[in-house]
Amino acid sequence: MSHDLKEIKEYLQLHADLGITEIFSSVPEHIFEKTKTFAIVRAKKKAGDSPTPVVSSMPLVKTPALVETAQKSCDNIGSLEELKAAIVAFDGSDLKKMATNLVFSDGNPGAKVMIIGEAPGADEDREGKPFVGMSGKLLDRMLSTIGLAREKNIYITNILPYRPPGNRTPTPAEMAVFRPFIIKHIELIAPKILILVGATALKTILQKDLPITKMHGVWNDFTIGSHTIKTIPLYHPAYVLRSPLQKRTVWQDLLEIQDKIDSWIVNTFPL
Ligand code: URA
Repeated sequence: MSHDLKEIKEYLQLHADLGITEIFSSVPEHIFEKTKTFAIVRAKKKAGDSPTPVVSSMPLVKTPALVETAQKSCDNIGSLEELKAAIVAFDGSDLKKMATNLVFSDGNPGAKVMIIGEAPGADEDREGKPFVGMSGKLLDRMLSTIGLAREKNIYITNILPYRPPGNRTPTPAEMAVFRPFIIKHIELIAPKILILVGATALKTILQKDLPITKMHGVWNDFTIGSHTIKTIPLYHPAYVLRSPLQKRTVWQDLLEIQDKIDSWIVNTFPL
């Protein structure tokens, strides 16, 4: 099917009029397969009605089957290289098709402190590294106040290895599908302390549907096999950037982490 430039411009203008300024769908779509919807919206617009925004629906994912596939592909993994290869080979998520790069991790794999964020944003997708944009810079500054730095004594990754389009929040299905990979990642790093940055990391790892407003700064034990890890959720730096008054709360939580490191890790397992 061919379409002239005028029609394409008109289509884009229609979206701009609706306030849609970014391509924002969980699956790649052929826009002109939506011609029928487009024609209805265009007709309404011409008639002077206010058009109803076209909202892409989430694809129906066969989550349990995909979780099982993800779980199976983690079964015999014994190294970070193997884990990365398994994620690259996994075709159970359309996020992979839209991402520029896989964002695997950064920092010291021998660190005793592991940090898990939500998902890559535009900067991370471009560079293939977690937390390199604005919120990453704030995270680095926050952690440096308690002596933690990625080039030295922390290891950083995310729940999702690929950027969700338009930086939207990961869906429960995506969190479930990528959970086996992040659990294997934790198992391989075997940290003593796990910092869960933001609500997505908190929900995916601890599988507790409790709000981060209640859970931040609270220690929980998280066990994988025979290995027990102290976990603590922290407000996401993107939220702190939007709500600077929360800096005080984050500072209290960071002091709590520093206290645990000083009183427990440094004596028992030097950083
Ligand atoms: N936010 C995250 O949660 N992770 C990143 O890597 C970047 C921004």
